[in-house]
Amino acid sequence: MKFLVINGPNLNMLGIREPDIYGKQDFASLQEYIRTQCTDAGVECELFQHNHEGSIVDRIQQAYFEDIDGIVINPAAYTHTSVAILDALKAVAIPTVEVHLSAIEKREAFRQFSYVSLTALKTIAGKGFAGYGEAIRYLKAYLEENA
Ligand code: DQA
Repeated sequence: MKFLVINGPNLNMLGIREPDIYGKQDFASLQEYIRTQCTDAGVECELFQHNHEGSIVDRIQQAYFEDIDGIVINPAAYTHTSVAILDALKAVAIPTVEVHLSAIEKREAFRQFSYVSLTALKTIAGKGFAGYGEAIRYLKAYLEENA
């Protein structure tokens, strides 16, 4: 089983960026955490981070032609704006779980709507790094049940 884990814009600035909201650990620590969670769950993973919407769309489309079984995505700010990322996820129809470090439902009104949630199997928000671990385990169990 192989997962593609996508992180959107400004997540590469973790540790520097609004640490009171996103924590003090940097992006390298998040990547290491995700890799460990995948290893522990017995799944292969590929990590992708990009600040550009079109590059994220391209990476999702590419996944259709590869051996990717599931997608974990934190679309960051594009969560709230991107019909293009929603459409790409719908186009490839690869089971997807959405993750947010912060509790978007408790923040500004503009963060409370997620386009990606319209296609994601589940949205996990407000659990920090642990949300990615939960997403990986959820996706693995879902794929095993629906094999
Ligand atoms: C985020 C929440 C988004 O609203 C924000 O734009 C981000 C990060 C999160 O992980 O909490 O960049 O997706």
